[in-house]
Amino acid sequence: MTRAYISGTGFYVPEKVVTNDDLATLMDTSDEWIRERTGIQSRRFVEDGVGTTDLAVPAAEQALKAAALTVKDIDLIIFATSTPDYMAPGSGCLLQDRMGFPEIGALDVRVQCSGFVYGLSIADQYIRTGTFRHVLLVGAEVQSTGMDLSDAGRDVSVIFGDGAGAVVVSATEEDRGVLSTHLHSEGKYARELWSEVPASGRNPRISSKDVEEGRHWLKMNGREVFIHAVTRFPECIMEAIAANNLQVEDVDLIIPHQANLRITMEVARRLKVPLELVYSNIDRYGNTTAASIPIAIAESVNEGRIQKGNHVVLVAFGSGFAWASAMIKW
Ligand code: COA
Repeated sequence: MTRAYISGTGFYVPEKVVTNDDLATLMDTSDEWIRERTGIQSRRFVEDGVGTTDLAVPAAEQALKAAALTVKDIDLIIFATSTPDYMAPGSGCLLQDRMGFPEIGALDVRVQCSGFVYGLSIADQYIRTGTFRHVLLVGAEVQSTGMDLSDAGRDVSVIFGDGAGAVVVSATEEDRGVLSTHLHSEGKYARELWSEVPASGRNPRISSKDVEEGRHWLKMNGREVFIHAVTRFPECIMEAIAANNLQVEDVDLIIPHQANLRITMEVARRLKVPLELVYSNIDRYGNTTAASIPIAIAESVNEGRIQKGNHVVLVAFGSGFAWASAMIKW
């Protein structure tokens, strides 16, 4: 039986470190407020002119190197992002060109914070069916250019950061790899975490009036997001555990989308697992949307937190609302 396993990982974050105190010089906030509510101490922001694909390239190069593969070995690029370089074409095509891949397919996945897990489910299907042997799956975001860094946007802009993570998903005949994936959405909450413009239903898609009114910034109903997140994360973790006839005790590491440390703590509490079982690096990077899980995977591998044979659950929740999980036997 052919399964899909993660054969290489990589990540890249921009050099510019933005601390909570740095943000407090731009808006009415404080290090104490941000740490207490989110667990974030700093995040990375790009310099002007750096786009999502620029962050994806070094992450993808590392993942290929770790998998001991070259661009010629990859059969498909899947690029998960909520902040593509352009509205058209997708960032996957830009990555194909930048890294000199052969003329393979390049597919953008627009499922925001859950984009990486959705992308993994797609890679998994292609590999299980024998269509492809190696898929490059990237999660990359530049959030900093889409956030209101004034007082009006402080509830959102203290949370998000920029970064990229990548994995190579490869075929194996061994008893390991992605055991199951579980995808969900509930679009009635689409406007609880969204950017209103540019919008295809407006002509022009974005006007100077829209910009004056701040409709292009990312907006969030934090309380609503929190309430749903702390329910959906544990539910979707349990779905992955039950689907594989496992118990919570069988899980070696949970890698959640790095939404907010308070959410992670609540998830650990509801699952009755020690906080150490739930990976967290949000203190250093903030919430990097589709990039947060692949960055966390790469760091976990580098730190030796994941060993061959471990059961690892990936789980995400975010804008959409969309949420998803995956059970991996490493
Ligand atoms: N600095 C200081 N004060 C801030 C602030 C900031 N960055 N952002 C908001 N505030 C203020 C609010 O204006 C409000 O002031 P008021 O009481 O005078 O009206 C006060 O802090 C409390 O706001 P509230 O919305 O009640 O805070 P909260 O306890 O709900 O925490 C979040 C806000 C955003 C941290 C919280 O709702 C949350 O974690 N939501 C989930 C967000 C998330 O994870 N998003 C990503 C999902 S993928």
